Amino acid sequence: MKIAFISDIHSNLEALKAVLGEIDKENISLIVNLGDLVGYNASPRECVDLVKQRQIISILGNHDRAAIELKFAEGFNILAYQALAWSAKSLAPEHKRFLKKLEHTRMLWDRFLVFHGAPGNPDAYLSFLFQAKKAFNYMRQKTPGVRIGFFGHTHHRAVWQRDVRGKVSRLEMSQDDLLLDPEQMYLINPGSVGQPRQRQWKASYLIFSNEPETIQFRSVAYDLHSAQAKIRAAQLPEYLAERLETGV
Ligand SMILES: [Fe+2]
Repeated sequence: MKIAFISDIHSNLEALKAVLGEIDKENISLIVNLGDLVGYNASPRECVDLVKQRQIISILGNHDRAAIELKFAEGFNILAYQALAWSAKSLAPEHKRFLKKLEHTRMLWDRFLVFHGAPGNPDAYLSFLFQAKKAFNYMRQKTPGVRIGFFGHTHHRAVWQRDVRGKVSRLEMSQDDLLLDPEQMYLINPGSVGQPRQRQWKASYLIFSNEPETIQFRSVAYDLHSAQAKIRAAQLPEYLAERLETGV
C-alpha cells in the first residue's frame, strides 16, 4: 500500500495539479492533505473544488481556519493577512462549509496521527528539538501505540526520530528515500506543495509505502508563470509571486 502525503497547497492550483499528475502515475491508494489548502496564492476556490472532487482526506490548517473566521488571521504577517482576506472573500459558502468540517488533528486508520502545526494546535510550529519532544510525548500519552505522525505548517521537509531510549533527533537526509525502523517513532513533514521555502521552487510531497515502511520525498516542476500571473491579476502583493520563484 502506498499513501501520498501533501501539505500547504495554499491556493496554488498549478502546483497541486502537477503533484496529482505525478501521484496518478503510480499505484497510490490514498492521498492525505495536512492542511493550509488556501491562503497566499490566487486559486482558493479551484483548490478546494479539486481536493473535494478527488476525495483527498484533509485536515484543517491555520490559514483554512482563518478563511472561515478572519479573527484567526490577526497574528498573520501583513502579506499573509492580505492574501487571506482576499481568499476569504473569494470562497463561496460551499467552500467554507467544506473547510469548516475539517479537524486540525486526526488519527488515521489507528496508525498515523496527522496534524497541521503541532498536535492539538494548528498555529504552533514543530521546528525545534523541544517541539518535537513535546509532539512525541503527546503521541505517547494520547495515542499510545501510534509510531508515526505527519504534519505540515513549516513548509520545510523534515524527519524527526525518537529511539527506544527516548532520544529525539532530526535526521539529516542525504537522499530522498528513508527506510523506517519499526522500533522507532517518527514525525514527518512532506514540505509544501504550493509555497516551498527551502530555496527551491518545485512542489514538494511525500510517498509512504508499507512493508517495509519507507518514505520518499518527491518534488515536481509546475507552471510557475501561470501561478504568478494569477497572483498579479488578483492584485495580491507582488512579493507573493516573487517568492514562489526563489522558494522562500
Ligand atoms: Fe502553510
